[in-house]
Order: sequence, then structure tokens, then C-alpha cells
Amino acid sequence: MADIILGIESSCDDTSAAVLRDGVLLSNVIASQQVHKDFGGVVPELASRAHEQNIVPVVSEALRKAGVTAADLTAIAFTRGPGLLGSLLVGTSFAKALSLSLDIPMVMVNHLQGHILANFVRQPEVPVREPSFPYLCLLVSGGNSQIVKVNSPLDYEILGQTIDDAVGEAFDKCSKMLGLGYPGGPIIDRLAKEGNPNRFTFAKPNIPGLDYSFSGVKTSLLYFVRDQLALDPNFLENNKEDLCASFQKTLIDVLMGKLIRAAKETRIREITIGGGVSANSGLRNRMLEEGAKRHWNVYLPEFKFTTDNAAMIAVAGWFQYKAGVRTPLDVAPVSRMADF
Ligand code: KG4
Repeated sequence: MADIILGIESSCDDTSAAVLRDGVLLSNVIASQQVHKDFGGVVPELASRAHEQNIVPVVSEALRKAGVTAADLTAIAFTRGPGLLGSLLVGTSFAKALSLSLDIPMVMVNHLQGHILANFVRQPEVPVREPSFPYLCLLVSGGNSQIVKVNSPLDYEILGQTIDDAVGEAFDKCSKMLGLGYPGGPIIDRLAKEGNPNRFTFAKPNIPGLDYSFSGVKTSLLYFVRDQLALDPNFLENNKEDLCASFQKTLIDVLMGKLIRAAKETRIREITIGGGVSANSGLRNRMLEEGAKRHWNVYLPEFKFTTDNAAMIAVAGWFQYKAGVRTPLDVAPVSRMADF
């Protein structure tokens, strides 16, 4: 009998459900919430209300597109955390109710594990290309910046992580400082393509080991912009492309510097990226360039699997299901999770 897994993701502002048959994706439905646009960031209370509205239609659509019914499901994988508690509560409660009513097991997934395993989402008619173990994953999102050594689908070691801000937060704050809007990453990515990455330089952190820091780069941009605006009130408008390109290059230099070091120290050449910032075209290009130079095998998840989606949650849950992991019904969502 095939394993048919329903994945549910509701950690932030995307309600998503996916169906996987023996590891092959049959459907992946995402309802992104537009209500936050006017607020310059995700409003937790609005996010949980929107999840409540979306969860039933999104799951129904995922089952319909997959051509299966609820009665066909083998297990339910859901994001337990980390994320916004009210948002997680909706997905977790839904998973529990469905598990109870169908009398099938559920498996909790750490959202970050989903991003780390995003390259294992198999799709019909798409050639399979997956990293072999152990591999390194540069995990970069709005809440995380980590280098993770992935020994097996269920065994991870964090080699380095940010000691302050996440890199996605640096993108978002930069965009806010430049008056460009939210979420900042995609906007900066787009403008950076038109600008000169070597026009401005920003202070880079000097942190020992494989850890990151992004608060100093952000402050460096803040003071630079403040000083330039005092001289020329049109500075931002006239230089936004170069500012974005230069700031983005600085962040990528910092990310890649430690990743290269981690690859050297561990002698691992299987390299992946995951998380929202892995959608960044500058970072993806640099990964490919460095990979070619250093004889790495680089695996970039498809764009649709870089941001929050239930396909990666279903895959992570399926690996656990096969390993015999089952989650009891009294599980509660958690906004922060102990590392893996
Ligand atoms: O993984 P994600 O969707 O949510 C969590 O943080 O869990 O990541 C969101 C982050 C935001 O900071 C957003 O600005 C960033 O990913 N992001 C990007 C790009 N697309 C999304 N950053 C840089 N370039 C992009 N193209």
C-alpha cells in the first residue's frame, strides 16, 4: 500500500496543504495572506484569523487536486513550530481533529526541517536530483541564518548560526530604511539587478567560528543613509538600485564566507540552501559560481519550495513516518523549538 501523506503548514502568513504519495508530490496548495500588506509586517492576530478561514478550503483543494479523498490518507504531517503561536494553533488543531476523526497517525514537523529537506520533494516528470548525506544546508529565512550539517533525514548538527538578527530580517529592515516596502527581500532582489554591487561598502562582521551576525551591517547602512541624506535629500531616490545591490552583495559575501569555511572544515561538497532568502537570485547565482569553482555539487530548491509550503512539511513528515515516529494527540504548538 502506498503511503499517502497530507502536509499542513501554517507557521506564519501562508496557509498551505500538500499531498504526497510515496514521496511524490500530488498537490501543493498555498493561500498567501494579503491582509498584512498595509501594516509593513505580519500581524499575528490577523494571520491566525486568516488561517482559520483558509484551512478547510486549502486542505479540500489539495485533496481534490491530488485526486484522493480523506479516507485514502495514511498520515498527517503538520508544522508544530517555530512560528507564530496563533497561526500554528490553527494547523495543529486541524491536524489533531482530522487525525482523530480518520483514526490515522499524525507526525509533527519542525518547520526548519522542512526547509532543510526541500530538495527531496519529488515531482512527477521532474528528474530526481537530491543531495547525498552528509550535506551542508545554508538555512536562511526571516527568523534563521544557520549552517546545518545534515547527516540523515532525521539527524542534524548546527555548525553555525546568527548571534543576533537573521539575514531575512536584514533584507526586510534595509527595505524599510530605504522606504521600499514589505517584505523587503524580493524588492531588494529586484532592484539589486539594476544596480552596481560595488558602488558602496558596508561594515562586515568579524565573528569567530562559523557563526553569523547581521546587526552591524544593518546599522552600517542606517548611519550611511542618514549621513548621505543630510547632504542630499534625494539620495535614496537617486541611488536605490546601487544601495540595494551593494547591501545585498554584502549580505551574500557574509553568508558565503562562512559557508565556504564550513565546507573546507567538514570536507563536504554536497551543498544546499533553504528558507525564504534562498529565493534570492544573487545568492543562488553566487552558490552556483562558488560551487563551480570549488567542485561542489550545489542543489537549489525550486522557487516554489523556498518560501513556506506544505510540500516540504509533507516530505519531512514522511521521512519521520517511515522511521516510526508518531505524535500524540496532546501535542501543543510551540513558537520556538529547541534545535531539531
Ligand atoms: O522562510 P520564510 O518564508 O519565512 C520565515 O522566516 O520562516 O522567509 C521569509 C524571509 C523574509 O525575510 C523575506 O524578505 C525573505 O525571506 N525573502 C527574500 C527573498 N524572498 C523572500 N530575501 C531575499 N531575496 C528574496 N528574493
